[in-house]
Amino acid sequence: MKRGGSDEAKRRAGESAAEAVEDGAVVGLGTGSTAAHAIRALGRAVGSGHDIAGIPTSYQSRHLAREVGIPLTTLDDDSPDVAIDGADQVADGDLLKGGGAAHAREKLVDSAADRLLVVADESKLAESLSVPVPVEVVPDARRPVADAVRELGGDPTLRAAERKDGPVVTDNGNLVLDCDFGTIGDPAELAASLSALPGVLEHGVFVGLADEIHVGTDEDVTVRRPDA
Ligand code: 5RP
Repeated sequence: MKRGGSDEAKRRAGESAAEAVEDGAVVGLGTGSTAAHAIRALGRAVGSGHDIAGIPTSYQSRHLAREVGIPLTTLDDDSPDVAIDGADQVADGDLLKGGGAAHAREKLVDSAADRLLVVADESKLAESLSVPVPVEVVPDARRPVADAVRELGGDPTLRAAERKDGPVVTDNGNLVLDCDFGTIGDPAELAASLSALPGVLEHGVFVGLADEIHVGTDEDVTVRRPDA
């Protein structure tokens, strides 16, 4: 799905992060159009002899990795040295993710990695996180979680599928509530409150996980380090 800025800016960000991956690495493969550029670049690296294995975060990234020739492994067998993943919004080192409804596996793989390289075009940068928070819920939890989100001050909307009647069903067989909290003053506090709700599998607030943010524009790419 098309989100954010130009494809050229996304390509620069994705390829910059892929260049930072060392020969021999196990790489978490994020989801979305920007991460896809990194996956294609890693496929070219494998084609020119690099020994890289990928751990996908979605059906999409698994399918693309297979197509471009990246050998795959799993969290059962390997631990990622590095993960490359996109974001819907970036504020300092905090991220909002889940535009592609893949945030549960993304958080699992991104957190397991020694380093997380975020890839984003500059339209994703913000002072504070403010886009609606995707919350993946088991189907029976839709109404109770929606009520609890309202009590936390959010406005939940069940994500509707495109080119399919009814809701989006995630790769894990669950539903997604996009929860608008306006500007999020304390991402860590909201993350903890959402994680505590029964029936929530995962939400899209990623606090303090990013080690580098590769920001692409139509002209160039810069690398930001949140703690620097
Ligand atoms: C998927 C995600 C994506 O990484 C995020 O939506 C960014 O996508 P894109 O690079 O296509 O703008 O979190 O769940």
